[in-house]
Amino acid sequence: MSATINLEKEKHFPVLLDELVSIISPHYGGTFVDCTFGQGCYSKKILDHQDNKIIALDRDTDTLKNINWFKEKYKERFYFENKKFSDIDKIEINVENLKAAIFDLGYSFNQIKDPKKGLSFNSIGKLNMKMGLNDVSADEVVNNLDQKSLEKIFKFFGEERKYKLISKKIVELRKNKNINTEDLVKIINSAKKYKNYKIHNATKVFQALRIFVNQEISELIYGLINSFKILPIGGVIIVVTFHSIEDRIVKFLFKNYSENKNTSRYIPNKLENKKLFKLIEKKPILPSLKEKKINPPSRSAKLRYAIKIADKGDFTEFLKKFDYLIDVENLAKQL
Ligand SMILES: C[S@@+](CC[C@H](N)C(=O)[O-])C[C@H]1O[C@@H](n2cnc3c(N)ncnc32)[C@H](O)[C@@H]1O
Repeated sequence: MSATINLEKEKHFPVLLDELVSIISPHYGGTFVDCTFGQGCYSKKILDHQDNKIIALDRDTDTLKNINWFKEKYKERFYFENKKFSDIDKIEINVENLKAAIFDLGYSFNQIKDPKKGLSFNSIGKLNMKMGLNDVSADEVVNNLDQKSLEKIFKFFGEERKYKLISKKIVELRKNKNINTEDLVKIINSAKKYKNYKIHNATKVFQALRIFVNQEISELIYGLINSFKILPIGGVIIVVTFHSIEDRIVKFLFKNYSENKNTSRYIPNKLENKKLFKLIEKKPILPSLKEKKINPPSRSAKLRYAIKIADKGDFTEFLKKFDYLIDVENLAKQL
């Protein structure tokens, strides 16, 4: 990536914006939590309706650049906190008349194009990948974590078939030098002899490291659970995902807790799962052909939403289902 790129000229295209508006517009006249403020395209669209308020969260302090504009234009209808969305239940102001929590996962165009963040395999120099409020960087992970742990990260978060060979090569090279972004790309290219013409060789490993560094699995799981806690009955949780692991998590939560399942053989009438959500659409909403043409990164987006219908939820089964992924994220505690 060129360090001379002019970020101001580049544009973040909000994904599935019209579809989002059609879901939330029946709920207009209240407060919406934009859990992933980014460039504020979602927030702006919602605030352009006079009766709406926004509480915006983002972990990246670079988003603060946009905050003054929003505060000046929308005054007390706009409020921002530099927070991770797993802490949505710790918002520091009184939350009234809450209508929805909206998650547009992943990174923005500005973040992937920022050479300091090193989220792209086109970056140069020291590995980083921190989006904000992180405990570890990709540099610490790649240069310090043991081989078995690296294997697990690449296998579970990247679904990378060459996870063993790549980890072995990393451990070999780092005996002689600190591995940077270019070194990592070279290692991956040498481990994957046959070029995949659909995606870059390094895509999966870079996705895996980004998920690990930003603890994106626990962020999503606790973001969803805690947004359920703060929403009133009738409130909506809306999530736009960009890869299969995220979508699996959201799909399981919404589907599993919107059906009354009778799983006990011994107590036939015992309903083990209380219904927590109503689903209007079982299938995810996908971008139109037109949107994918204008904004190619939108092609992997999936939007799912669910309406809260119960006061309290027991999420033990949800947590248990994905504890193997949270265990992998917890390997960061070794650093
Ligand atoms: C795809 S962008 C959102 C774009 C936004 N919808 C817009 O209209 O401009 C994702 C944003 O979410 C933020 N983010 C990612 N994970 C987060 C987390 N766990 N907590 C808070 N913000 C997060 C990123 O820093 C990034 O700014």
